[in-house]
Amino acid sequence: MKYLPISAELFKKNRLKLSQRMTSNSLAIFNSNDVFSTGADSTLPFDQHRNIFYLSGVDQEESILLLFPNAKLKAHREILFLKETNKHIAIWEGAKLNKSQATVCSGIKTVYWLNEFESIFSQLMEESTHFYYNNNEHYRQAVEMETREDRFLKMVKSTYPSHELLPIFPIMESLRGVKEPEELTLIKTACNITEKGFRRVLGFVKPGVMEYEIEAEYIHEFIRNRSKGFAYTPIIGSGYNACVLHYTENNQKCNDGELLLMDVAAEYANYSSDMTRTIPVNGRFTARQKAVYQAVLNVKNIATKLLVPGTMWDAYHVEVGKLMTSELLGLGLIDKSDVQNEDPEWPAYKKYFMHGTSHHMGLDTHDFGSLKSPMQANMVFTVEPGIYIPEENMGIRLEDDVVIQAKGCPVNLMQNIPIEIDEIEALMNSN
Ligand code: GLY
Ligand code: MN
Ligand code: MN
Repeated sequence: MKYLPISAELFKKNRLKLSQRMTSNSLAIFNSNDVFSTGADSTLPFDQHRNIFYLSGVDQEESILLLFPNAKLKAHREILFLKETNKHIAIWEGAKLNKSQATVCSGIKTVYWLNEFESIFSQLMEESTHFYYNNNEHYRQAVEMETREDRFLKMVKSTYPSHELLPIFPIMESLRGVKEPEELTLIKTACNITEKGFRRVLGFVKPGVMEYEIEAEYIHEFIRNRSKGFAYTPIIGSGYNACVLHYTENNQKCNDGELLLMDVAAEYANYSSDMTRTIPVNGRFTARQKAVYQAVLNVKNIATKLLVPGTMWDAYHVEVGKLMTSELLGLGLIDKSDVQNEDPEWPAYKKYFMHGTSHHMGLDTHDFGSLKSPMQANMVFTVEPGIYIPEENMGIRLEDDVVIQAKGCPVNLMQNIPIEIDEIEALMNSN
């Protein structure tokens, strides 16, 4: 791990919150993600399942967290099972967590090696009546492959058919949606690393540079600041490419006169940041580019102020739609009759702004967090309006990450990342 140690107090708090929400006499299991094979003896870099990380801080493959708040034996209320480390593994892969390191990292006193899992699990299942499985009901999830958790659940269903099965997702969604102060610090660290990448790129971009060269500048800055890399696949698109919402090829030249859209951000300690900036390749916006850019910025600034406790995500999007409609009318991209005749299911503004404005952000970039309940303090949301005009080879999106406050406007975790037209131009022309 490149990140600095995280206090186990965070993970203790997270487990306490979860155990208070678990039904009586229930047991929950959280597995690490699989290590994915790419063929021959190669694998993708390991990426920890966010739930076991949230509850234990253990960032290692083949780990299992067992929570059983009503276990008769106190030592069995929280248990970690880890892959046994040995000299061979230490030489080839580097040492894995030993038992005392696992306790320091997680605050969990009972740590067993994996070969003890089966007998202890079966003993504790006899003591319990309900089993929580670690499922994923995220509104955007679209995974076809069988996960480690799916395999585990199959085993539980066939071996313990009389247990009542309960999904852990609704509880995890509501817990993870509201961040602890330590989590906000980790997200802020990710945002600060992203800022360093963006400032580096402002001094690097010029006509003729390739999109992938810009990607390389970011990853260099991210890794040298203890990030393991991009929080999500970066989108670096110049000219028309900026209008392709999920453009990730990043293999074209940035030409004089074009705008360059960069939806790029660092992770830190498995926490995401999520930033988009749009800059002129030659360091100066044209009058038309300025007008469209300022319209997007206006929507972003006003939309941000709507992110307060009690706001409903759907109603917020309706309000942002009205703001965008007004800006698009001002730019002459739509006219009054477009608005009068619009389909309420697909309002006129959607021709130029066809995606959502905000999503929860945290351990996952599109983080867990309910979209059906009112916003609360310490939720983290992105704010990311855009205007895409393919016929002008121009796409502009601006995206910051903000924390909802108990009172007043949200705190912008990206407030130091340049966004005003004058500042971007000044920084791009400062050498
Ligand atoms: N970078 C992904 C998003 O903005 O939602
Ligand atoms: Mn986003
Ligand atoms: Mn983004």
